[in-house]
Amino acid sequence: MNNIEPLIEFKDVSKIYHMGDETIRAADHISFKIYKGEFIAIVGQSGSGKSTCMNIIGCLDVPSEGEYFLGGNNVGKMNTDQLAEIRNKMLGFIFQQYNLLPKLNLEENVEVPLMYAGVPKAKRKELAMKSLEGVGLAEKANHLPNQLSGGQQQRVSIARALAGTPSVILADEPTGALDSKTGREVLKILQSLHKKGNTIVLITHDNSIAATAQRIIRLEDGHVVYDGPSDNPDAFVHSEFGLHAGDGGEEE
Ligand SMILES: Nc1ncnc2c1ncn2[C@@H]1O[C@H](COP(=O)(O)OP(=O)(O)OP(=O)(O)O)[C@@H](O)[C@H]1O
Ligand SMILES: [Mg+2]
Repeated sequence: MNNIEPLIEFKDVSKIYHMGDETIRAADHISFKIYKGEFIAIVGQSGSGKSTCMNIIGCLDVPSEGEYFLGGNNVGKMNTDQLAEIRNKMLGFIFQQYNLLPKLNLEENVEVPLMYAGVPKAKRKELAMKSLEGVGLAEKANHLPNQLSGGQQQRVSIARALAGTPSVILADEPTGALDSKTGREVLKILQSLHKKGNTIVLITHDNSIAATAQRIIRLEDGHVVYDGPSDNPDAFVHSEFGLHAGDGGEEE
């Protein structure tokens, strides 16, 4: 597997923020490679640098130092337009708060990223319906988001993320707003997408959710402190206190 090109590569990436005299390294010399078909969870406590990494992976931000390659493209060298283009072409986003547009029906919501990607109207509709079918919500295509439960809304947002067949699905705390049963259903969908060959990067502070991934990258203070399989108990040890935090749901 190591002789194929990684889909995502962080090469000594740092993100530095200046706050007055203070310098914060939100990401501090981070390196990792993610290959096609992997299901990875990036975990860590509040302030460890998860969102910072997510924003860079998602081409919403660029590194201050080091290099980020997505599909072999050096993202750090791109301007805003190029970032938007690679984002539309390669990435599908799933957010904690679904981010569905309230005045658009489900089918129209799923069409939105396809519109940005320049897909013609008729094709958009076809892809959106197919994607809604995939999450079992085709028969509600004409409903508005607020006519659905939270879990159903998150399934729509999964359909939206998948509609353009992205290379990578980025999910930031996708179960954060759901009760645990509905959250498990959403995780099952992510697992089945992984089985179908999709590449998934899941961001979460919750170890029990991270455990559904294949591989864990654990961050502490902007550093990678673990990168390996999720079935290794070390994946869930917090190095500072040596605790096994397997219960999940802990908030800082
Ligand atoms: N725009 C910014 N300006 C200054 N400091 C920032 C900025 N964004 C993040 N930071 C700092 O960088 C560090 C990492 O933040 P980040 O948001 O990546 O953490 P996180 O792991 O996503 O936390 P959470 O679980 O609370 O979402 C924190 O110390 C944070 O205060
Ligand atoms: Mg965050």
